[in-house]
Formats: sequence, structure tokens, C-alpha cells
Amino acid sequence: MAITVSLINMKGGVGKSTLTVNLAWFVAEVLAKKVLVIDLDPQFNASQYLLGPQDYERHIRSRLPTVWNIFEQYTRTPANPAATPLAVGTAIVNRVTLTNGGRVDLIPSQLELALSLLTPLYKETLLADTLRPVIDQYDLILIDCAPTESILTRAAYYASDWLLVPVKPEYLSTIGLPLLVNSMNTFRQAYPTRMLQLAGVVFNATTDYAPEEVQSKLGVRQIAQQNNWHVFENEVPYSRSFPKGAREGMPLNRTSRSRRTVISRFTLFVREFAQRIGL
Ligand SMILES: Nc1ncnc2c1ncn2[C@@H]1O[C@H](COP(=O)(O)OP(=O)(O)OP(=O)(O)O)[C@@H](O)[C@H]1O
Ligand SMILES: [Mg+2]
Repeated sequence: MAITVSLINMKGGVGKSTLTVNLAWFVAEVLAKKVLVIDLDPQFNASQYLLGPQDYERHIRSRLPTVWNIFEQYTRTPANPAATPLAVGTAIVNRVTLTNGGRVDLIPSQLELALSLLTPLYKETLLADTLRPVIDQYDLILIDCAPTESILTRAAYYASDWLLVPVKPEYLSTIGLPLLVNSMNTFRQAYPTRMLQLAGVVFNATTDYAPEEVQSKLGVRQIAQQNNWHVFENEVPYSRSFPKGAREGMPLNRTSRSRRTVISRFTLFVREFAQRIGL
């Protein structure tokens, strides 16, 4: 049965989508695991990153199902009067199958997912329930969350065993963390039987010497300590290869001219993450 991890931070632009996609590829390549990525952000960054803009457009134009169909499968409309349940396999796209047995699949997102937020009733459990038939086909499911609290966040919590919190150590880096604490507490009170745990905070895009960075890491560590949160020993370094990889539709290790030191530092984080969640 897959271990499910949501990448979340109520602050935007901290690297949730970048780390989701790179973690998925590295876990498949380095650890030979089968990974399913779920893009739970209406901005569909992870979908475009994994599929590339052309294949993504083709998917949407062909009206193939996305994560939106998961949340709207029971909504009766003139086009779907019977509101038939979604066969989740039809929403899964294979990105890569490796010779070592590892693979990366994706359930893409689409802009219309934002509309699901307008009718949130009874949607918390839909993602978890819909994934159930395929959960044994994967070792790891990674959910890329949007930076705002909504029914989608609660659906991600409900489907997850762990949360991974990327933080960019910069001015205002702590701003999303109290919101996350509140949101986790509210969820735990509403669903006391769900075993949602925090895998930890990972510092992303670190440069090692900026004084602002040192200051901001201190603030984050303080909040982590107050809440008994693990902070990953291995940090993800700042590297232009990450945005470049997004443009090339490739993970760090397959991006043109990416540096070996950055790749090996990211690999160390991947191994620490895998160990932490028992993968
Ligand atoms: N380690 C890194 N080094 C350099 N640039 C990075 C790194 N991680 C992420 N970035 C860049 O930072 C920007 C924001 O990253 P990303 O989109 O992954 O953040 P996000 O948390 O998913 O944002 P949002 O909250 O909008 O979904 C992107 O341009 C990405 O390429
Ligand atoms: Mg994102």
C-alpha cells in the first residue's frame, strides 16, 4: 500500500511543486519505486512541469479526466445527469517507466478545480475514496497542494499519512507556518481517527551564507521546536537548474548542465525523506 505525502505550506512560492516533481523522479530512479503525483493546485504547475505544456494542453483539449473530475464526479449537470463515479485509472497519465521498475504517474489538475471550492460540501473524503482502488499499485503518492486553505487542503489531509513542508529561508518565511499549525489542529479535531503526521520541514533554495537566511532559519527552527516538528538535516540548495528543469520538463539530474554537487545534495535529502516516512 502506498505511503501518501502532501507537500504543503500556506506560503506561496516556496518550492512545493518543484520538490513534488523532483522527489517523484528521484524516488523512482534512485529507489526504484512506483510514484503517483497528484496535482491538487488549480494553477496546475506540477502538471505542466511533468507533462510539458504541449502534452498537458492535449490532455485538457481531449477532455480526459483530471483531479477536477474526482471532486465533481457526483455533481449532477445536464452534461452528466447520472453523475457516474469516476474510474480513477482514466485520470492517471504515465510520465515515465524506468528499466529498474520505477515509474512516475500523474493525475493532472486544471483551472476549473478552483470552481470546486465554491461548492465544498461533502468533498473531504472524495480524493481518498477515489484513490483506494489504485493505492496498492504505488509505493508513494505525492500530493502537490495550493498555498491556501480550502476544501482541497482538507481532502489532501484526509488522504495523507504525512505532510512535508518546504520552506524558503527568506524574509517572511515563517508567515505560513502558524496558519499550517491551525489548519492541522482543526483537521485533527474534526477527524481524530486519521493518523496525519508531519514528516518535517525542509529548507529549500538555501545558499548557505546570506545573513537573512541564517536569521530566517532561526525563526523557522523556533516554530518547529514549539510544535515538535522535525527539521530535515539535508537542505535543498538554491540552483538555477530547478527552474531550468521545469522549462525542459526534466528532473534535476536530467536537466542540461546541472551540477553534480546539487544532484548529490538533493539525493541525500531524498534518502533522508524516504527513511523518515519508512519508504
Ligand atoms: N531549490 C531551488 N533553487 C532555485 N529555484 C527554485 C528552487 N526551488 C524552487 N525554485 C523556483 O522557485 C519558484 C517557485 O517554486 P514552486 O512553483 O515550486 O513553488 P510553490 O510553493 O509550488 O509555489 P505556489 O505556492 O505558487 O504553488 C519557481 O520558479 C521554481 O523554479
Ligand atoms: Mg505550486
